[in-house]
Amino acid sequence: MSVDHAQLDRDHLWHPFTQQLGWVEEEPLMIERAEGAQLIDSDGRRYIDGVSSLWCNVHGHRHAGIDDAVRDQLDKVAHSTMLGLSHPGAAELAAKLVDLAPPGLSRAFYSESGSTATEIALKMAFQFQQQRGGQHARRTSFVHLREAYHGDTIGSVSVGGIDLFHSTYRPLLFETHAAEPGDAADLERVLSSREEEVAALIVEPLVQGAAGMLIHPPGYLSAARELCDRFGVLMICDEVATGFGRTGTMFACEQEGVAPDLLCLAKGLTGGYLPLAATLATERIYEGFLGAPAEQRTFFHGHTYTGNPLACAAALASLEAFEQERTLERLQPKLELLGELLEPVAAMPEVAEVRRCGTMVGIDLGEHDPNLRLGHRVTLEARRRGAIVRPLSDVVVLMPPLSISEGDLRSLIEITVKSIKAACREARKGQPGARIAMSAVTTRSGAAIAA
Ligand SMILES: Cc1ncc(COP(=O)(O)O)c(C=O)c1O
Repeated sequence: MSVDHAQLDRDHLWHPFTQQLGWVEEEPLMIERAEGAQLIDSDGRRYIDGVSSLWCNVHGHRHAGIDDAVRDQLDKVAHSTMLGLSHPGAAELAAKLVDLAPPGLSRAFYSESGSTATEIALKMAFQFQQQRGGQHARRTSFVHLREAYHGDTIGSVSVGGIDLFHSTYRPLLFETHAAEPGDAADLERVLSSREEEVAALIVEPLVQGAAGMLIHPPGYLSAARELCDRFGVLMICDEVATGFGRTGTMFACEQEGVAPDLLCLAKGLTGGYLPLAATLATERIYEGFLGAPAEQRTFFHGHTYTGNPLACAAALASLEAFEQERTLERLQPKLELLGELLEPVAAMPEVAEVRRCGTMVGIDLGEHDPNLRLGHRVTLEARRRGAIVRPLSDVVVLMPPLSISEGDLRSLIEITVKSIKAACREARKGQPGARIAMSAVTTRSGAAIAA
């Protein structure tokens, strides 16, 4: 007897960031297999993975090197704890990450998701300031950017700035101060008005992904670093989305020569295979936690699956693939092609603006009645045509795996264009006045924050 998985899903699952009322009315797409940059459903249909399985796949699915590394690790041990024990993969990976990361970051603390990586960075920053004592102990609040997204746990929501996701929880959240994205003068204003109260600034370097690919002007990140130094504030860079080549360099921070005090990594860390995150800290922060047990300077934080050996094996294999396959070098011509392919997209009457930083693309369809669910319509149209995309409201997000072939990249853009046209046509049928906007491409080199 064959199992009706779609029905089981509708009857028993609760999906993330999903209004279930709408979900149960649609046929769920069941992905059973994958290959390279393509996902394959239970009927054998193929789809280009246009968002890297939520921004994490790097070298494609079923990458031989990563598959083998996970299998080999399975023959040794699937899981053992990092609390009181260690294992070779965790140690080796920490050394590799420290080597790759901006200078000064010397310690890796593992967890499982982007949310926990940022949560940990916030707790480390807070505790570090407390343990410095004296007037530093007054540094109890955080600065974040408007429209920021750092995850869904309560700490990471506290430094979030997307009302749709975060406003419900306001009564639960701790004190923060918001600065305007990409505006160094505003950051200076916020920091100077809160002098000696701020533990840390948390920022998504170069591009605020979940805000709809908002791109900071060149020089903003380095200006933020200088301001943090001037005001004695720690800098946390959240590279959960931007890390591992997504912006064209291994880490986005590199592009402005910035070394943060704390660096949050997740998503692409394992090549998009398994849940693993790392919060990297400088030796100065690490040393702030050293002391006799009775001093209670320990960082009392740790999850059951922290530093899972299978995940560490996948991460090591992914980093090896970066080297062996010259992933970043081979990405550059694809980025040029992507830029060229997006020029005509920006000129479409249905498109307000295209924003891009490396492989991170936001195609902004402008403001529409939310009931039209224009972004969602584009998703469904794209699916029909063989691509998976997932919007942020009415911004169509594209973020293909770094390994995507030129052919698949061309197909992805072609499908996206057709899907936007079809979705807007359909939406207009329901709303004759549905608006369509002026066009522009905003890339890192001509960057500005879209108003
Ligand atoms: C910048 C940033 N930080 C944190 C997160 C949260 O990561 P996770 O979904 O793994 O908890 C995300 C997820 O999109 C992100 O984009």
